[in-house]
Amino acid sequence: MIGNKYESNQTWSTSRVGQLVNDRKIRKNSRTSQSNEGAQYIENDVCLTEDDTSKVATVGQCPEGDTATTNNYERCENPDKKPARQRLLAVANRLPVSTVRKGEDVWHLEISAGGLVSALLGVKEFEARWIGWAGVNVPDTVGQNALTKSRAEKRCIPVFLDEEIVHQYYNGYFNNILWPLFQYLGLPQEDRLATTKSFQSHFAAYKKANEMFADVVIKNYEEGDVVWCHDYHLMYLPKCLKDFKKSMKVGWFLHTPFPSSEIHRTLPSRSELLCSVLAADLVGFHTYDYARHFVSACTRILGLEGPPEGVEDQGRLTRVAACPIDIDLDRFIRALELPQVQEHIRELKERFAGRKVMLGVDRLDMIKGIPQKILAFEKFLEENPDWRDKVVLLQIAVPTRTDVREYQKLTIPVHEIVGRINSRFGTLRTVPIHHLDRSLDFHALCALYAVTDAALVTTLKDGMNLVSYELVACQDSKRGVLILREITVYAIRMFE
Ligand code: UDP
Ligand code: G6P
Repeated sequence: MIGNKYESNQTWSTSRVGQLVNDRKIRKNSRTSQSNEGAQYIENDVCLTEDDTSKVATVGQCPEGDTATTNNYERCENPDKKPARQRLLAVANRLPVSTVRKGEDVWHLEISAGGLVSALLGVKEFEARWIGWAGVNVPDTVGQNALTKSRAEKRCIPVFLDEEIVHQYYNGYFNNILWPLFQYLGLPQEDRLATTKSFQSHFAAYKKANEMFADVVIKNYEEGDVVWCHDYHLMYLPKCLKDFKKSMKVGWFLHTPFPSSEIHRTLPSRSELLCSVLAADLVGFHTYDYARHFVSACTRILGLEGPPEGVEDQGRLTRVAACPIDIDLDRFIRALELPQVQEHIRELKERFAGRKVMLGVDRLDMIKGIPQKILAFEKFLEENPDWRDKVVLLQIAVPTRTDVREYQKLTIPVHEIVGRINSRFGTLRTVPIHHLDRSLDFHALCALYAVTDAALVTTLKDGMNLVSYELVACQDSKRGVLILREITVYAIRMFE
């Protein structure tokens, strides 16, 4: 059946990577039957901190110190307990902790927002290292050494990119060209000409940045490692790695939609990007549709063969699989039991007593449909006067890609709409919308999920929406409502 063509079990089974993934599945299934000691071992091996983002760490310290307990997720390395396991180098543009420089060699760390980071936090079965952009410009060696040292404790390896490259590849190529195109938004209309003119230099910076990622991977690579490249930022990376070493095991996973070949065709660098990705051994997408789009782009644009397992180029097969990401469910379930989360829950219940809580949690991105959601809420209040003092909408709008014009342009209209609705329907005691232009720490977020009566996911287009998973994970006793726009990509696993 064609619908099964890219399903994981069939496509992975014969490759080494597939073997590893299958082993992972078996381990995962048997995890429940492991002894407490075994479970503790897995817990102890988690790479990243789950701590409150307000508890920042200075370079050279493990944020939780050596006394971190099972309710936190970062552990300093504990080599005594560990048997040798498969090493994994996970390479993504974004590291799980973002850095804010506070002095010449002093840095503060915060958990990065976004689905990619949340999804990778759940990867525990490998001996993993995370390679990613440092997130700040660190031109001096003192700073670079200090930052590298601090990240090593988190098993994170920073890639240092200068400001100009970041401007061109991150603001320019990723966020102004690839992201909107992959989300079917097209290129920004009014500066189409400017985009066309700057395209060459942005694409050159994209390739240069990917090469710099490759240098760091190669420096840290050990024979037998699996290298897992993530997202549209690193489409050129598989080629760079395979050029260095043909036998390196390389996978690439896309966290966004892969558009129809008709859309991909409009990208000037379409062929080069496809060829670079095809250098990987295994290419993964969230859904069968995205996998199918990718294969048809390869067949139509590059003229290659698309056998059931993936894409074939002169006898060399790149496997293509649909394998949606997940969240670390236990992380949320455990968090709900923490005293500080219980305290947050109590406060929220008290604060919003007598009102139904509606919730939106999104990066302030044009694909998230935030203005549309707020306008729909206004219509609801207009048409249902009885509800005006009985419901509150909490919208967490995490600032994102703030140097990109399209994102800057989104903030003002959203504020205007919120202001208008609050002055129309607010009273001296209450306002219908609480709009926060910032991220929340993990514990506050879990508490919010737990008290929510109705969550609104209004994405115009999206990869795999993890907020909806997280909401369900935290709703055990509440049993509220999750309202998903029909286009939202959401795995049904949570309902099983
Ligand atoms: N998130 C966060 N801090 C916040 C709000 C959200 O870290 O203040 C996280 C949230 O827990 C979720 C991710 O950001 O895991 C958003 O993922 P999603 O897949 O919904 O969207 P993306 O940002 O990847 O487009
Ligand atoms: C999406 C992308 C991720 C990205 C995240 C946050 O989820 O697929 O790759 O990390 O958005 O965006 P940012 O630009 O802050 O990394």
